[in-house]
Amino acid sequence: MDIGFGRVRATFACPILPRAGQFLLMQTAPSDALLHRTVVYPFAADEKGFSLEFSPGQQPAALAPSIAFDVLGAFGKTVQFSARQPRTLLVAAHDPAPALAIADAALAQRGEVVLLLGQPYPIHSLRPELEVQVGHLPKLIAQHQSWADDIFVHGDLKVSQGHHLYTNLMPCGTGACQACYVRSKAGMVMACKQGPWIK
Ligand code: FES
Repeated sequence: MDIGFGRVRATFACPILPRAGQFLLMQTAPSDALLHRTVVYPFAADEKGFSLEFSPGQQPAALAPSIAFDVLGAFGKTVQFSARQPRTLLVAAHDPAPALAIADAALAQRGEVVLLLGQPYPIHSLRPELEVQVGHLPKLIAQHQSWADDIFVHGDLKVSQGHHLYTNLMPCGTGACQACYVRSKAGMVMACKQGPWIK
């Protein structure tokens, strides 16, 4: 489905049940190499499958109804909110799709979710419970960060109490290749095991 602004959303039937914050490795082009698997962030997951959203030009060339894709996972740590009904702030400089599963989880716990966007996005495609603001992110973050229990950031922005999405390569997803070491507040961690949302 074309949801606007060149973005494509697709729903997949799949027995893997990813949880909020986790990722999958998807083979988006013919290759046997693990390196050629793309990190994808499922959302709207249920017992039948999940959805993925692709930025302009990022969708697999073979994407079409009834085409099968090879995925591995789910990898990474499930997001744990710090409150029972979490007031959750999501920040996305370009692409909010990796955070949509976190929005699903916060809303499932009857939390509040505010999404701050640095660029225009097809807001009509989002769940109506989300409050969305688009604008200059440093200013929006300054206005909102004090009320949030948890903050999740995708993009080149530093938010002191935020969980930041690790966006470099994660070739294996299992802790085997050691390619994803990153500095966190708790020291060096593997993004594929202790992330990909890193505080
Ligand atoms: S992706 Fe291989 S160790 Fe993290």
